[in-house]
Amino acid sequence: MSILIVGSFMTDLVVRTHQAPKPGETVIGLDFDIFLGGKGANQAISAFRQGSHVNLLGALGKDSFGDNFLNFLKTEKLDISHIEQKNLPSGVGQIVVNESTGQNQIIIIPGANLGYDQTDLIRKEHLFKEANLVINQLEMTDEITRLTKELAKKYGKLYLLNPAPYKSLEDSFLDGIDYLTPNESELAGLVSKSLVTLNDYEEAAKALVSKGVKNVIVTLGSHGALHCDQSGCNLYPSFKIDQVVDTTAAGDTFNGAFASKIDQGYSIKEAIMFANAAGALSVTKKGAIPSIPNKETVLKFMNKNI
Ligand code: RIB
Ligand code: NA
Repeated sequence: MSILIVGSFMTDLVVRTHQAPKPGETVIGLDFDIFLGGKGANQAISAFRQGSHVNLLGALGKDSFGDNFLNFLKTEKLDISHIEQKNLPSGVGQIVVNESTGQNQIIIIPGANLGYDQTDLIRKEHLFKEANLVINQLEMTDEITRLTKELAKKYGKLYLLNPAPYKSLEDSFLDGIDYLTPNESELAGLVSKSLVTLNDYEEAAKALVSKGVKNVIVTLGSHGALHCDQSGCNLYPSFKIDQVVDTTAAGDTFNGAFASKIDQGYSIKEAIMFANAAGALSVTKKGAIPSIPNKETVLKFMNKNI
């Protein structure tokens, strides 16, 4: 059993503020931190902290952000032997977190993440054979995303796409995806409609199922997660938490935890419930990677809340 993630690394430069500035305005914020993130790394850490074996493929820069990231992954005991260091700047995320709501606004500059090319990936083709589940997000080039899915299918592996940040996807790409995990706005983008009610989300998810996606799992924040497949839709409510500190990487925590449970042979229902709990815990802490809980913490939280 193992998970293969072809994904991104970002060093997140994060400010907290009561209000984000309007154009031309300067506001005095509350604090500044540097956290490790990027959707690929976040999802890899999440799956790894839930006990899965994870191979992470992608690229950092040959710079201090890149070195620092690798050192961290080493202390976490994640295998770093499949990560390239390119002559490009490491990816960064510029993040503004609202102090009262915990909601974020993010601009990423992918840098070295876009330098990861098809030759790099083909050199690691053997890793697809030993994987159970292969995962992409959309912070690398389209060529890499396409090739990852192609290789996953070539070896008959499950393929999960977290379509974030939003990009339009061709029908031929949607066809054959085993798990597609958009949030509300990504789902709206994928069906080119504005979505308001739960019924809207269900219809949109079903439209993707009719295009050949086997399972659509929509993360709905405090409303939980909606799963739709050929037989219909089910909503799995979220876990209540006292205070939302920082929603950064809640979706990634969900995806990694979900993938880990699927890899370990659990049902979709069990995987979503567990991932909901992990995602809820992640919003109680600042930062992306520092907020991702481990398996023991998630299980304790679930036992208290069921
Ligand atoms: O999903 C959260 C992540 O998105 C952040 O860590 C940031 O780096 C961006 O990739
Ligand atoms: Na967080």
